[in-house]
Amino acid sequence: MSFHADDKPAGAVGLFNSLIEDFPDMIHSLDGAGNIVYVNRMATQLLGYAKDELCGMNIRQLYPPEILDAVEQGFREVKRTGVKRVESLFLAKDGTRIPVEIRTVVQCDGHSAFARTFSISRDLRKLKEMQDSLIHAGRLAAIGELAAGAAHDLNNPLMAVIVAAALLKKMANKPDFPQEELRKQTSRYSDKISGAASTMRHLTTRLRDFARGVKDQHTAIDLFDPIQDAFLILEHRIRTNNIRVRGAVVKAKHWILGDRNQIEQVFLNLLSNACDAMSQTDVRELTLDITPQSTGGKPHWCCAVRDTGEGVPEEKKEQVFKAFFTTKPHGKGTGLGLSITRSIIKEHNGEILLTSEPGKGTTFSLLLPAIPAPSPAATCESPAPSQR
Ligand SMILES: Nc1ncnc2c1ncn2[C@@H]1O[C@H](COP(=O)(O)OP(=O)(O)O)[C@@H](O)[C@H]1O
Ligand SMILES: [Mg+2]
Repeated sequence: MSFHADDKPAGAVGLFNSLIEDFPDMIHSLDGAGNIVYVNRMATQLLGYAKDELCGMNIRQLYPPEILDAVEQGFREVKRTGVKRVESLFLAKDGTRIPVEIRTVVQCDGHSAFARTFSISRDLRKLKEMQDSLIHAGRLAAIGELAAGAAHDLNNPLMAVIVAAALLKKMANKPDFPQEELRKQTSRYSDKISGAASTMRHLTTRLRDFARGVKDQHTAIDLFDPIQDAFLILEHRIRTNNIRVRGAVVKAKHWILGDRNQIEQVFLNLLSNACDAMSQTDVRELTLDITPQSTGGKPHWCCAVRDTGEGVPEEKKEQVFKAFFTTKPHGKGTGLGLSITRSIIKEHNGEILLTSEPGKGTTFSLLLPAIPAPSPAATCESPAPSQR
């Protein structure tokens, strides 16, 4: 369709009339009192009233009563500013509330006084439905990722339960096992089983809470505790793989604000990756150090987990943090450990850095905001989590 300057005015008016009448959004015009002076065809389709009915109405009759105060305020604003864009609700003849986006301009008379408003209102129902399903899909995807992560993280405590139960059975089957030793070992392994079981309970609770939208509570925690717990769970693997553990972590010294179970998961992921990385190397050393560091003028703990494993090639250093990236055989790696670790560290306002020299080893450094000790508790120094 073309429109030339030499078209007759009547033709131009007719063209604009049909354009406005057939416009796919509702168009209406109001006088100064809010009475409807014009509506196009789409208004009748959207609201279910006939044109004659609409033209005798005041626009306030088309809004649900609960938003009338906001509507009055909108009128005042548009008269003052001349234009307005707002998301609102129309009330159709059958009582349906229709979400709409309304764009309004004010037309003035020859003396710059208010004459009327023109509004274009777009039906947002389809858009809202799409937005809702996107939000829902996003939440489902996040739950899916967390479920996959929880399944991954359940493996470690589950392993601890299986191993401890097998060792218990082995001891019970040895008739000549010294009674006192049997009592000690039984109590040690059952502690391990109940510790691992509560880790698993926490993971499933976290999944359930996430699905419901509950946030984890952060409290003052001593980094020593989650590190010790992680070492306890991996103790068997460390021992059977002849891995030497070095470094010293001191009790009641390294305080952060966080979630103990999540931080334990972080160390489990890092330590278990380190064990895997050293499975083919001759020198097997795992070092864990915590040093104070000032970052951005604020005190932090820099916690370094160092191994003498195969290392990470330069081109893979970013990839390793991506969800589902793994170089491990099917059934062994899920590729979720480091992506979960990074998101937990981010949630704790921290950072995770990777340095590595292929063939020599890898260091993952966690930078976590330090907090003062919660109470002047006596610092009881104990050896680093070490090979037992
Ligand atoms: N300490 C490490 N040394 C060498 N490579 C590592 C180390 N930690 C992680 N990686 C690499 O990063 C990948 C992703 O690790 P992760 O996210 O924990 O998943 P997964 O352990 O299931 O493979 C590993 O498959 C491995 O290639
Ligand atoms: Mg891993």
